[in-house]
Amino acid sequence: MSVIGQESKQKITELFARHVSSGKVEFFKSAGIDFVLGKREGVFLYDVSGKRLINCNSNGGVFNLGHRNPLVLAALREALEELDIGTHHTVSEHRALLAERLAAISPGDINRVIFGVSGGEVIDAAIKLARGVTGRPGVLSAEGGYHGHTGYALPAGHEQYSAPFGPLVPCYGHVPFGNIDALDLAMDESTAAVLLETIPATMGIVLPPEEYFAEVRRLCDERGAIMILDEVQTGLGRCGTYWGIDTYGVVPDIMVTAKGLSGGVYPITAALYSDRLNQFLHDNPFIHISTFGGPEPGCRVALKVIDILEDPAFLHHVNEMAGVFAKGFEELKGRHGDVLVETRQRGLFMGLKMKNDMCGPLMTVAGFEHGIFTVYANNDISVSQIIPPLVITEQEAATVLESLDAMLAWVETTLASME
Ligand SMILES: Cc1ncc(COP(=O)(O)O)c(C=O)c1O
Repeated sequence: MSVIGQESKQKITELFARHVSSGKVEFFKSAGIDFVLGKREGVFLYDVSGKRLINCNSNGGVFNLGHRNPLVLAALREALEELDIGTHHTVSEHRALLAERLAAISPGDINRVIFGVSGGEVIDAAIKLARGVTGRPGVLSAEGGYHGHTGYALPAGHEQYSAPFGPLVPCYGHVPFGNIDALDLAMDESTAAVLLETIPATMGIVLPPEEYFAEVRRLCDERGAIMILDEVQTGLGRCGTYWGIDTYGVVPDIMVTAKGLSGGVYPITAALYSDRLNQFLHDNPFIHISTFGGPEPGCRVALKVIDILEDPAFLHHVNEMAGVFAKGFEELKGRHGDVLVETRQRGLFMGLKMKNDMCGPLMTVAGFEHGIFTVYANNDISVSQIIPPLVITEQEAATVLESLDAMLAWVETTLASME
């Protein structure tokens, strides 16, 4: 384990501030957060000086399989014995084999893949595909949603991230998530795509009404628009199913997966789409290129991620741990009803909605004291996201619940002292 002195830790922080992000360092300092990432293993993150936190953010699903999962590392090591990035100019065995497996676990008739290296990149690809196929410009997404910071993804998210960068890609509109009447009103003959997270994370892990996605599907069919689902956080087992959308029994036209596909070690992402949309890319095979898209070692890693996902014991475990958290959340609500307004959960995609906007940031700070890394939802900062690795054990889950209990108590006391 890397255990360094306080002096070196300070040096690293200064270097980071000088050459990477002075603003981040100032922000962490003002929040009283003093953490430099060192060793990581399983569900744990360690500060370089040895302090240990359970990762209840998992980078939104990057660490679904825990940090440095040995099976994933072995797949990567093996791949590096024979492969490199590969070339986007030729047919690739590894991309073909991964695409076949992704098609097999995708809902309905989704069986084609555009590979990328970041989530935003494949959201961009999905929107380009929808515009190309329909010949229309319009993109509708949810107010307070998040799809990344690249060119086509950025205007689909909250304007706090795009305001300084205009003019943005035009013809985007926003509707309240979960409100089918608002979507109905906003859609017209210029709408190419409706782009939604299945359960928006940055909005605060908001579960839609049960019928919502079936209605979105119906509207898209009626109006000739493409339904794009962002499964960047909800996919790959997070919700106790392969994909978040599986519970709703709806098949989108395009579905985007990212974070967890990397196994936490090798960036790889994909926009998965229905055969019905293929003619456009068939006719224009070189119109969307990504040099590193679907890097071949990443393909091997992603195949291992899918092997693990397909083992029935894996989702069984996710659902068992979800039960442990559901029970624990009821107890927390009983004990901290003053501050904990609502708990939100689908599988191990969980959020604690609290009394006001002070609470999310306070919970994050409290987490560093109580051994939990948790981040608040950026577009509703009264919500703490609880997104642990899916391999979390029952004992580790119990530790998280005990810590949340102490953290909520501290937030209550702190709020009371401010009144
Ligand atoms: C729901 C969702 N979509 C898209 C993205 C963008 O992914 P990336 O940061 O890899 O570009 C993110 C990243 O946090 C996300 O949470």
